[in-house]
Amino acid sequence: MKLLGHRGAAGSAPENTLLAFAKGLEYGVDGFEFDVQLSRDGEVVICHDERVDRTSNGIGWIKDFTLQELKRLDFGRWFAKLPVYQAIPTLREVLEMLTDLTIELNVEIKSGLVQYPGLGEKVVRLLADYGRLDNAIISSFDHQLLLDLKQACPPVITGILYDCAPIKPWAYAKYLNAQYLHPAWEFVTPELVTASAAWGIGINAWTVNSSFAAQKVSLARVARIITDYPQYFRTGEHGEMIYQE
Ligand code: G3P
Ligand code: MG
Repeated sequence: MKLLGHRGAAGSAPENTLLAFAKGLEYGVDGFEFDVQLSRDGEVVICHDERVDRTSNGIGWIKDFTLQELKRLDFGRWFAKLPVYQAIPTLREVLEMLTDLTIELNVEIKSGLVQYPGLGEKVVRLLADYGRLDNAIISSFDHQLLLDLKQACPPVITGILYDCAPIKPWAYAKYLNAQYLHPAWEFVTPELVTASAAWGIGINAWTVNSSFAAQKVSLARVARIITDYPQYFRTGEHGEMIYQE
């Protein structure tokens, strides 16, 4: 089972900042999950919310800021545990930071509240430019976007995000030509993992932030665990993942 830092390592540093990625590396993660949006001038930036209000000292929609304007905001100081200035990272900056490291990426494309024309294609192009296409999972709650991306670029690896208990989600994933299902941890069962594996679909669970959740997904033997707290995980003697604060 692999361990991915959620939004970098959101439990220990301001989420989706270079500091959060540095923390994750310090904790020895196998990879990172992070969220992408598009600035007004078409730059792929890393931020969970469509607006900057919660995680910066600014107000407004990311789509209305140029990259230069976004870079003037502080995405660090809102996070009480580590009050330091942090700029919003671009996807390119994160790819630069991780060059030469065999770290997996799970790029979550945000699409819903705001729909960004061409965001998926830009992400794929950047991943390809940095030789990361075969080591990255592109996930989204917008499944049409994932299907379109897969059709436009078949080597792309996709993960279907969901937060409910669908019937036969593995058949749905197959229908979308996806490689992974990304359920919220509450909906992970051993049957889901086994039945999905029989259809060639892997399971990556989020956001696993307690020993109860860790036990549930670990017993089910998911492929990847996405967590805000990678520092609390260790591998047990039977390959299980144990969470201990
Ligand atoms: O990709 C897993 C998880 O990040 C999905 O939800 O809202 O944290 O982006 P959210
Ligand atoms: Mg996310």
